[in-house]
Amino acid sequence: MSMTPIEVSRAEQKSGTASSGSRFVRACLRQPVDRTPVWFLRQAGRYMPEYMAVRKHHSLLDICRTPEIAAEVTITAAERLDVDAAIIFADLLLPLTPMGVNFEFVNGEGPVVHAPIRTREQIEALRTDRAGDLIYVAQAIEKVSRHFSAPRADGDQLGIIGFIGAPFTLASYMIEGGSSRNYIECKRMMYAQDGAWPLLMEKLIAVLTQYAQQQVEAGADVIQIFDSWAGALSVSDYRDFVLPHTKELVQRVQQMGVPVIYFGVDTASLLPTFRQLEADVIGLDWRVPLDEGWKCIGHHTAVQGNLDPITLFAGEDLLRKRVKEVLDAADNRNGHIFNLGHGIVPGTPVENVVNVARWVREMSAR
Ligand code: CP3
Repeated sequence: MSMTPIEVSRAEQKSGTASSGSRFVRACLRQPVDRTPVWFLRQAGRYMPEYMAVRKHHSLLDICRTPEIAAEVTITAAERLDVDAAIIFADLLLPLTPMGVNFEFVNGEGPVVHAPIRTREQIEALRTDRAGDLIYVAQAIEKVSRHFSAPRADGDQLGIIGFIGAPFTLASYMIEGGSSRNYIECKRMMYAQDGAWPLLMEKLIAVLTQYAQQQVEAGADVIQIFDSWAGALSVSDYRDFVLPHTKELVQRVQQMGVPVIYFGVDTASLLPTFRQLEADVIGLDWRVPLDEGWKCIGHHTAVQGNLDPITLFAGEDLLRKRVKEVLDAADNRNGHIFNLGHGIVPGTPVENVVNVARWVREMSAR
């Protein structure tokens, strides 16, 4: 997956390794910004009437697999909220299909894998040669990138975020067959130490690297790696069974010339270990005060977060106060991207999300 010198310099130009016209990308690289950039996890989702209108006529997977619709949903959310970055509309689980693992979204239950991966034979049969099937996500990114190619009214270039799942979180869906409380089967496979777990990690990394490369070539400025359920792991298990593989993936994506954001939920106890990933940005969930979390990670790394998404159900005064607390904790230090500590949930009042974006713009102006 090595790049030619021309590709490297294009990636550098795009990502702004030297200097970018996107305050979002600049903040990822801990460069000075005129104000704190802001976007929201799950900014295009079921809380938004525009998304529900599209969803009425298409399944979630249809939206993901149709570049025109995925691009439209991505663009509509970013423009409605007036945020500094657009995350491509896709789903974490899309790479399971070309690997040969079938799944569906069951209403009210979330994702279901009908034949979970539990044996070494099943892992050996997983395919790594069909990542090209995921090109529809890159095609959607191309459309979004073209749409936002001109600078906005304030001169800023909107950042475009591609994303992939982390090997642990994707493996947890493959092995457990869906969402899980105790991750027994997944941890059982880790603990067996019979070579099955490292083989699964290696195959996931092979596919995820190709998938991320497609997204970067299509115009993603930054790649976010979602390790949503890493918080289920003890520090020891994370260090022994997850860190080395995740670090390899982070490095491979960074070699594509874009900054990497690494995010998980319930990760306060893991933050000191996350240092070793050397990701450009760590996403913080809402349970840890941002200044404490940032200290644990070290100020040489940028942070993203971390308002509790349920605060968006509060009245204006409290919501505004909480937004200010997050900004105060970041103290205008270079390398803060304002976000939630996890995704926006259905039922969230859209106006509150719009207001938070506006308050961040107003309150954080340098
Ligand atoms: O703007 C955006 O962020 C939307 C794009 C997006 C989706 N999924 C679309 C989606 C993103 C970034 C994801 C990532 C994702 N998918 C994660 C990691 C992010 C996180 O929340 O930690 C995970 C764990 C998944 C797997 C997944 N997809 C689950 C567990 C579910 C069910 C959740 C539920 O509440 O039912 C989904 C479905 C899904 N993916 C929805 C959306 C908008 C909602 C269902 C729908 O529209 O029918």
